[in-house]
Amino acid sequence: MNRKVYSQARPFLKWAGGKTQLLLQLEKRLPPQILDDGVISRYVEPFLGGGALFFYLKARYQVEESFLLDANPELIRAYQVIQNDHRHLMEILKGMEDEHLGMTEEQRKNNYYHIRDAYNRQKLKDGGEGYSSDRINQTAYLIFLNKTGYNGLFRLNKSGEYNVPFGRYLNPAICDEANLLLVHEALQNTELICADFSRAGEFIKKGALVYMDPPYRPLNRTSYFTDYSARGFDEEDQKRLARFYRDMDQRESYLLLSNSDPKNEDPEDEFFDELYGGYHIDRVDAKRNINSDKRGRGIINELIIRNY
Ligand SMILES: C[S@@+](CC[C@H](N)C(=O)[O-])C[C@H]1O[C@@H](n2cnc3c(N)ncnc32)[C@H](O)[C@@H]1O
Repeated sequence: MNRKVYSQARPFLKWAGGKTQLLLQLEKRLPPQILDDGVISRYVEPFLGGGALFFYLKARYQVEESFLLDANPELIRAYQVIQNDHRHLMEILKGMEDEHLGMTEEQRKNNYYHIRDAYNRQKLKDGGEGYSSDRINQTAYLIFLNKTGYNGLFRLNKSGEYNVPFGRYLNPAICDEANLLLVHEALQNTELICADFSRAGEFIKKGALVYMDPPYRPLNRTSYFTDYSARGFDEEDQKRLARFYRDMDQRESYLLLSNSDPKNEDPEDEFFDELYGGYHIDRVDAKRNINSDKRGRGIINELIIRNY
């Protein structure tokens, strides 16, 4: 069959823990039936982030319906804006890009902090819940900040403010129209939900492919990373997720989960081996790039866990 369903969209936000480096390793481990017929009747992703695997699969498999969740309201809202109002969003972003690129370095820096303030004011005011067309501006700000901020990552401080400093780029592609169009297309037949991962249970049924990529359990104290949300994801959440995984396993769905391997730091650490005992646990090479210190970079093992 013809596998080429869409041209491939790429994640429209650079997201910490993005899985672009792991795509081939994940694809190799898809259920044989999906690899054979190229059809995914239902795809559920409870920790969506930048959606690297979702976009990859959409371009190569026939994905009939998708349910994408993330606890970050700003992120889900940005997806919804691209799903419903991409033309308007692109118009605003194009205007922002033209203005920004016409500025001197000093002006760009001021412009960045001005937009960051506007974004945080709006964010704190409306809490980011729900969706309406007036959220388009806020999404344009988010994309702008992601393309022009230092390291281009989304990060919040403890009071929930976006606090990434200005990054120096020669020619940042703030409005990548071609990709936004592809993202818009890929988001058809897709439900986007802002919720804790446990809500995904509503959509998980026999035959569904479920990909879970939770925030990492920190490899060491210096790489501690809680910045997707002010609240974070602690060890108790990792255990809660493992219970959820076992529950969902009863439904004859295909469960694929990735996480960092604590054995990189401490070969005796059996945390995930115990939590996911009885399932297939593979350790694969992955490049990660979210740490600023050199030690955390380079090839390290990632866990891929399957119930099939
Ligand atoms: C490792 S990232 C996912 C990265 C994604 N696979 C990609 O390719 O970009 C984890 C995501 O989980 C979200 N998250 C954190 N706590 C959550 C929770 N309790 N329920 C659902 N999502 C949560 C974060 O907002 C973040 O986007």
